[in-house]
Amino acid sequence: MDLESILFTQGFGSRRQCRALIAQGRVAVAGGVCLDADADFAVEDFTFEVDRAPWRYRERAYAMLNKPAGYECSREPQHHHSVFSLLPPQLAARGVQCVGRLDEDTTGLLLLSDDGQFVHTYTSPKRKVPKTYLATTRHPLDELQLQALRDGVLLHGEKTPIAAAAAAMRDERQLEITVNEGKYHQVKRMIAAAGNRCEALHRERIGSLALPPDLAPGAWQWLDEAQLQALRGASSPTPA
Ligand code: URA
Repeated sequence: MDLESILFTQGFGSRRQCRALIAQGRVAVAGGVCLDADADFAVEDFTFEVDRAPWRYRERAYAMLNKPAGYECSREPQHHHSVFSLLPPQLAARGVQCVGRLDEDTTGLLLLSDDGQFVHTYTSPKRKVPKTYLATTRHPLDELQLQALRDGVLLHGEKTPIAAAAAAMRDERQLEITVNEGKYHQVKRMIAAAGNRCEALHRERIGSLALPPDLAPGAWQWLDEAQLQALRGASSPTPA
C-alpha cells in the first residue's frame, strides 16, 4: 500500500492532508524520513512515525477506554463531554463507535471499534455477552435483594423478569453483578427493582476481558490479540 493511503486509512486526515504531512518531512519509516507519498509498503506489521509518535498499521481499530464519569458515549453529547474527546484524533477520525453505551455517570471498561461486525456481535441481544459491574448501593445489601436479582426482577416497560447471571456482595454496599443483556439503565433499574438504589456503577469486565488495573480513568489502549481472544470466548451465540 502506498504511504499516502496508509496514513489516510489510519485516520491522518484527507488524502491531501496526508500528502502534505509526508511532503513536510513529518513521516518516518524504519527510522528515516520518507518524502515519497507513493512509496509502497507491505502493511502487515508495518510501523511508522508521524511527528516522532510511533504508529502501527491496523486494518481495523479495536480499543478500550477506562471511561470516567462525566462523559457521554456520543459524538454529539448533550450535557457533558464526549468519550471521543479522550481518544487521539486519528482514532476518532477512523469512525470508531462505542461497543454498547455506558451512562454518563458510569465508569470503567468501554470498547470502541471501527469494525461494524465486531460492534454488532458485542451489542446484539442474540449474543449473551456477560458484562460484570461493581455497583455501590445507597442502602446495605441483603440476601433477599441478591436472591431477587438472581431470580429475576420485572423492570418497568418489560414483559418478562430479567435475572442477573450472577450477583454477589463484595461489601455491605458493594454489589458485583453480571448481566447478559444491555438494556437502557439496566443495572440501575434492576437494583431499584430489588429494593435498593445504585449510587455508582463501574464496569469491570466484558466476558473474560477485564479492565487492566493500570489503565487510568480517561486513558485508552489498543486491544491486543490475547484481549480479543478473551472477548471472542464470550461471544458464542446462544443455543436455539
Ligand atoms: N446498566 C446501567 O444502568 N447503566 C450503565 O451504564 C450500564 C449498565
